[in-house]
Amino acid sequence: MTEPAEQLASTASAPPADAVIDTETPAISRVYDYLLGGKHHYDVDRIACNAMIQAVPETPLLALANRAFVRRAVQYLVGEAGIRQFIDIGSGLPATGNVHEVAEQLNPNVRVVYVDKDPIVLAYGRALLSKSDNTTVITADLRDPDAIFEQPEVHRLIDTSEPFAILLGGVMMHLEPHEDPVGVAARLRAQLPSGGYLMHCGCSDPGDDPRAPELNAIFEQFHMGSRTFPTYPEQLRYFEGLDLVEPGFVPANTWRAGLDFPDPDNPAHAMLAGGIGRKP
Ligand SMILES: C[S@@+](CC[C@H](N)C(=O)[O-])C[C@H]1O[C@@H](n2cnc3c(N)ncnc32)[C@H](O)[C@@H]1O
Repeated sequence: MTEPAEQLASTASAPPADAVIDTETPAISRVYDYLLGGKHHYDVDRIACNAMIQAVPETPLLALANRAFVRRAVQYLVGEAGIRQFIDIGSGLPATGNVHEVAEQLNPNVRVVYVDKDPIVLAYGRALLSKSDNTTVITADLRDPDAIFEQPEVHRLIDTSEPFAILLGGVMMHLEPHEDPVGVAARLRAQLPSGGYLMHCGCSDPGDDPRAPELNAIFEQFHMGSRTFPTYPEQLRYFEGLDLVEPGFVPANTWRAGLDFPDPDNPAHAMLAGGIGRKP
């Protein structure tokens, strides 16, 4: 069932009145928002989250680690790699340290296209970004990567002949095996010019932690993906042909982490991996 958002303003922060929201199925965007301590979620999302937290109390820590990795990746890409253009696919609802905010601290001229399949992201994103000409948000689907590059807003903000970065934060894990995540990553890499970057992070099965398949089963139960915890080697294939930036594709909390990272020694961190590859 879908309903106009204005009838559902049950949360502290109501979405724009023209947004239409499915209230019967958990939405990945809202589930992640809840885990991060945000305000844009409904009962159906909280039920899914609480099932995950009951099974694995560290679930919110994994969400925080994912978000923190994205922030550090953007800092690296702007600060060290000199990247000025980003396409953030599966960008999610606005949260602490949005990509353009992190990037603009290092270079005010950075351009960002946010892409998400969930229209609620567009609804909230419009309000957040209305003051910036360098940043936009569009509704499009990772499962059709070539179509993303045909969008007028991508043409307007991204010069694909110049190095740019594709960000895949916590989104590849929501592709089904039959949707060919390895092939999707290959099609994205094909769009990059020499010197362009692909960043990917998400839930991972380290192979020795039964909590990974357990959480995977809960994601599946709530229709948020059936293979949300691929192994590390499976995900390394997303970077084929790219040079992995040091320290490689690793537990995300160990990727250039600062001293302020929460609970850094928690073994659950092995269930969240991240890395960045550069096209030679
Ligand atoms: C876990 S959130 C990650 C948000 C942000 N990238 C981060 O890492 O902090 C995943 C987002 O991917 C979006 N998503 C899932 N499948 C997608 C698809 N096939 N195409 C585009 N977006 C998708 C969801 O709507 C959700 O907003």
